[in-house]
Order: sequence, then structure tokens, then C-alpha cells
Amino acid sequence: MKVGFVQFEPSFGSVDKNIEKAEKLIDSADANLLVLPELFNTGYVFTSKEEAMALSEEIPVGKTTQALMRIAKNNHVFLVAGLAENNGDKLFNSAVIVSPKGYLGTYRKIHLFFEEKLWFDPGDAEAAVYDIGQYKFGAMICFDWFFPETMRVLSLKGAHIVCHSANLVLPFCQDAMKTRCLENRVFAVTANRTGAETRGEKFLQFTGKSQVISPNAEILCRAGSDTEEVKIVDIDMEMAANKRLNEYNDLFADRRPEFYGQLLNKKNKEAFQK
Ligand code: ACM
Repeated sequence: MKVGFVQFEPSFGSVDKNIEKAEKLIDSADANLLVLPELFNTGYVFTSKEEAMALSEEIPVGKTTQALMRIAKNNHVFLVAGLAENNGDKLFNSAVIVSPKGYLGTYRKIHLFFEEKLWFDPGDAEAAVYDIGQYKFGAMICFDWFFPETMRVLSLKGAHIVCHSANLVLPFCQDAMKTRCLENRVFAVTANRTGAETRGEKFLQFTGKSQVISPNAEILCRAGSDTEEVKIVDIDMEMAANKRLNEYNDLFADRRPEFYGQLLNKKNKEAFQK
């Protein structure tokens, strides 16, 4: 299966221009599954909730999802792409998932980063997995990587590949994703953006280096830190179906959930809430 990422620099607020740029890059690629960055159509640094709301769209009727459906159909490709989702009185930082046949689903980011907490509502549902041929994939968004539970849940649900739309600003993720893939024996595609955004007093620099990682923690391909590019690798998804490390260890069969009760103990969370 040919999988990859679209890495580019969106221009803040220029939805049509950003869709057009992404479409050109997708048209130049030959892939079965492509991942686009978080908030690829709007840019990232909002200055108010009203501004984020004005740039948000309903899914799937909004123009960005409709464009992604058309692009997926024309290019016979599955797409995962981030956008601000308007859902009545709620605003989510979401990833839309489309196949060549149409809309498949939406993932709403469950771990919001920094000022996203001022604009967005936290995701309200567990991440789902979707079929691609005989295999399964799921989506997560940027800062979700910091919480190993996100990828573990997707992997336990059967995902062979995790599509990770990102707008990374910290330097840790690209290397950390090797461990996430190794501990779950899954592939991951991180699609990051490049460039910087200055909005009033606010400034953020994004780190690029989008990548595809294997279940053995190999970097199958990685983009530059400031280049606009599509990169695709041909992967054997079967590798992610086998959770065995050796003749004695199976990473999923060897888990001991009876000793992981603290993960579900809400008091651990409440103790840290202000
Ligand atoms: C991030 O979650 N955009 C860092």
C-alpha cells in the first residue's frame, strides 16, 4: 500500500488558496492514503474564538470536506486532513476522513494544546478505525501523540496505520513517534506543516519533518524542515498485523491490563485539575 504525507505552509485564513495548494500536491502523487496537516485549510494561530468560529466549517457539508471528497475521488486516494469543525454551538479541532467513494468520518482532537483550549471544545468521542482494503487505519491530531493512550487505543482497535495530522511546534514528536510505533507495532504517518505564523503579538514556528515510521521504528521517509512536498512509501501493512517480537513475546498478548487500573482511576486526573 502506498502511503504518505502532504507537507506545506498554509496561508492564514486563505481557505481557497490552501485547498488549491493541497490539491496540486495531491494531484502530483500516486498514493492509496495521504495525510494532510492539522488545520490545513485555515492556518493555526487564531486570535479569538470568533475568528476560529468564522473560519470553521460543518462536516461533511462544508466546502473543505466537499473539496476533499472531490480530490479523493479524482485521485483514487483516501485522505485524512485537519480543519476547524463547526458543530452547532461547539467548535472542534477535527480531522476529516474521506475515501474515493466519499465521506467516512471525523475525529475530534481529544488533547488540546496551549491556546487551542481557548478556541476549541475537546473531542467528545473515542477515535474510530476505518477500513482500507483488508486493513484498518485511524486518525489522531498533533498533541495527541504526547498521550500514549491515544495510539494504544487505536492500535488495540485494530489500526495497522495511524494517520497523524499535525502542526508541531515542539521538537520532540518526530523522534518520539518511533517509540509509539514500536510499542504498538503499527505504522504512522505524521503530516506536519512548515513555516511560521505571526498574528499580532503571537508567533509560532512549525517544524516540518513530516514522516512515515514503521512498526520496527524505522524512518521510512522524512521531509525537510521547511520544504513543501509530498512523500510516499510503499509499505507492507501485514507487518503491523503481527504483534510478535520473538517466539516468547507478543506485545498485545503480553499486556497485563489487570495491573493498569490506575489508567482508569479518575482521581489521578482530578488531583491535577486546578
Ligand atoms: C499541536 O497540538 N498543534 C502542537
